Formats: sequence, C-alpha cells, structure tokens
Amino acid sequence: MTVSLKTAIFPMAGRASRLMPLTKAVNKALLPIYDKPLLHWALNEARACGIERFVFVVNEGDRSPVDYVRTDENLLAYFRNKKDQPQAEAMVDFLQDLSFFERRATLVAQKTPKGLGDAVLCAADYVEGMPFAVILVDDFIYSAKEGCLQQLQRGWQTQGGAWVALQEVAAEDVHRYGIMAVDEDKREQGNDKAIGYRAAGIVEKPSVAAAPSRLAVVGRYILPFEIMGLLRQTQVGAGGEVQLTDALAAYRQEGGALYGLPFTGRRFDCGCLDGWREANRALGGQ
Ligand code: G1P
Repeated sequence: MTVSLKTAIFPMAGRASRLMPLTKAVNKALLPIYDKPLLHWALNEARACGIERFVFVVNEGDRSPVDYVRTDENLLAYFRNKKDQPQAEAMVDFLQDLSFFERRATLVAQKTPKGLGDAVLCAADYVEGMPFAVILVDDFIYSAKEGCLQQLQRGWQTQGGAWVALQEVAAEDVHRYGIMAVDEDKREQGNDKAIGYRAAGIVEKPSVAAAPSRLAVVGRYILPFEIMGLLRQTQVGAGGEVQLTDALAAYRQEGGALYGLPFTGRRFDCGCLDGWREANRALGGQ
C-alpha cells in the first residue's frame, strides 16, 4: 500500500536579516520571483505532490501567509466586473485557484526563534502521526519538469524512511549547510530513476576541515513522524538553535534509513539579496 503525503510544513518565522530592508515589514516568503511570491511557487510544488494541508509556522502575530491565500470575495467581484481590463480574467482564475490553499491552510506561531528544528516541532499537532514534508520557501528550486519535492516523493514512496534534497556546494560554503556523508555503494533506486544515496552521516554547519563531504542539504525534506519525537529530545546545537539536522542524525543512529537525493533543477538561495536577484534574472529571461 502506498502511503500518501498529506501535510507540508513551511517554516516562515525569523527575522530575514540578510534581506533587510526588503523584509522589514514583509515576510521574505512574499517577495516576488518573476510573477508570483516565493510562497506561491512553494505551494504549487507541494500541491503537485498531492499535499492537502499547508502548515505555516510564523512569528507571533504574522498572518501574511493566510492573508495571501485568502480568495478575497471583494477583489474577486471587482475583477469579474472589469472584463475590459487586461489580466482581469487571469486574476479571476488566480483568485479562485487560491481557494484550494485557503481551505487547507493552518497558521502556527513559533513563539521564540529557537531554530528550524523547533519550528518543525511547532507543527507536530497538525501532521496527525503521519509522514510529512518540510519546504524552506527561501530555497527556491526551479525545475521545468518535475518539482524537487516530487522527485523526493518518488524515492520515498519506494524506499520509505527520511529523504532530503542534496546539492554539491563549494568548500567555502559548507559551514552554511547541513552536510551529508553518503554511502556511494548504497544507491537506492526509487521509481523512475529517483536515485537517492543512503546517508552515512549528517552534520549541521561543520567547518571545512570537519565536513564529511560537500553535499549540502537544501530545503526539501520528507520525514517520518518519529522525527517529531526525536526533535523533542534534541538539545540546542549549531548556532545556539535546535537543529533539524541533529534529529536526522539521531534517526540514522537509531537505525532509521536516511537518504539524500541529488535532484534535478536549479536552486537559488533567496534568503540573501544576491540569490534572490539571480533567481529573478534567471526566470525573467525564460
Ligand atoms: C537550514 C538547515 C540546513 C540546510 C539549509 C538549507 O539552515 O538548518 O541544514 O542546509 O537550511 O538552506 P539555515 O539556512 O536556516 O541556516
């Protein structure tokens, strides 16, 4: 029996200090990439996997993701009556389409900024004891064919366990990422060539000297529910934060199967100005 993936968690709390002043009053997930906010790209990627619950973990008081997915009946009526305005029809379709997300959206506050692991744990009550996806919205991954999460899903559906997206980074950048050591001999083939490597270790933000490889975890995960229990036991780690990577390391040490998938697609770090600009340049030219 195939277990389906129902829930995606979108950690969206934090200061986004690397993008100030753009993000002073706007959640970085709402910054535009070409013709829509980063968040919308991520929502579409999740929807393509059949996901039907979208959990946004935000700073207390931030309602921006649910405001964004609100159909807004007034706006809908406005565009319905503006048939002569170019784009009016497209806007009606767009607003109607949003209702898919609006009906399935949940907002959770992360009261104190204690890291990605803590943010994911804040959503524990909404995944109903089932496997779940995590999407880091500012890791924008453009793939003309199949989204990154869907590629992970194909591997996960065949092998189970925990799956993360991997990308090789320059040696000078390894200290910014979760880094995975892979067992080259243990390539597991999911359906239709979703080939993941069985992890031989994983560590958050190592120094170049301590890094087991240059394979960095980028912001797409499919995880079994037991990660939530492991997160509860996870001590504060790198950067003084509760790290999701540390819970994944514990999962592996307890015998869990952790896989890394070098995905097809182009990833942009939209958590910083250069990456965000580059993404817009790349898509603007399509
Ligand atoms: C987070 C994760 C890290 C991962 C990275 C991908 O780090 O903790 O393991 O490699 O996202 O973007 P952050 O960017 O929040 O410091």
